[in-house]
Amino acid sequence: MSIQAELHATVQALVQPGKGILAADESHPTIAKRFKAVGVESTEDKRQEYRSLIFSTPGLGEFISGVILFEETLGQNSLERVTIPDLLKSQGIVPGIKVDKGKKPLVNALGDEITYGLDGLDDRLEIYKNQGARFAKWRAVYNISDTLPSRQAVEANAEMLARYAALCQAIGVVPIVEPEVLIDGDHTIGRSAEVNEIVIAEVFNALRRHRVQLETIILKPSMVTPGKECAKALPEDVAEATLRVFRRVVPAAVPGINFLSGGQTPEEATLNLNAMNSFGQQPWYLSFSYGRALQEPAQKAWAGNLNNRSQTQAAMLKRARLNGAAAQGLYTP
Ligand code: 13P
Repeated sequence: MSIQAELHATVQALVQPGKGILAADESHPTIAKRFKAVGVESTEDKRQEYRSLIFSTPGLGEFISGVILFEETLGQNSLERVTIPDLLKSQGIVPGIKVDKGKKPLVNALGDEITYGLDGLDDRLEIYKNQGARFAKWRAVYNISDTLPSRQAVEANAEMLARYAALCQAIGVVPIVEPEVLIDGDHTIGRSAEVNEIVIAEVFNALRRHRVQLETIILKPSMVTPGKECAKALPEDVAEATLRVFRRVVPAAVPGINFLSGGQTPEEATLNLNAMNSFGQQPWYLSFSYGRALQEPAQKAWAGNLNNRSQTQAAMLKRARLNGAAAQGLYTP
């Protein structure tokens, strides 16, 4: 298959009505935090047990089109001793891989951060592709305040995202482009709208500069919401603000927008996605690429005990099914 055909086939498999992406690519420190919340120590065996358990949930492929993996998981076997990418494929799910190396402070820009990981990325992508990954993810993070993010951070992160996306497409791996404007802080929904518009507009400037083909990327943005320390907005208000920003800055050529949950509760993330899909026809398919909002109930049910298999898988399937409904505007609480 040509590179072009590969990219299009992967996009087609990922962007399907009633389906979204499961982000299970937590780095070691992040998964340790999630496990600690349910009283489990994060070891390689426990990570394998938990992830194998949720990925083998019967029927998961009905609502989940792709799973983003961490490098360790891409090379692991399931509890049933098939490789994790093969397990996902048997569920009709496309395996993906987080390829960035995390964030650090941006020098000379107090309070801003920049994502690392471009050096050697072309070689790593070849390896990941041989292991079965068909799409990738790179996350840029923007802190938000009255003055943040700075112009430097907006431009530097957009440049990294575009360089990453171009490298992915060159070898036939679909890039998920993730500019995450954080929910932390006491900013208003208006300030979130303003920052998201600036950030996403700059990302598309950089993508164009690097000649990234927009038809074969997936955008993974934050929803436009007030900061965590502000009063919550109604789902209709989140939907209205988010769609207003996106209509301004996301070209219609982009096939899918798969939101991150970013600290929303599972219920909020479902309600907000449903509200967006109740707003009428949009140029792009609007779905989810949730980590916490899909996995929290499953992690609680598992609590480190393999005997809780059926409860864990039932919790996983329930959130996948409800978000699958929300991706079509069909969710009723
Ligand atoms: P959350 O949905 O938990 O924000 O995770 C999505 C993700 O992949 C962040 O990079």
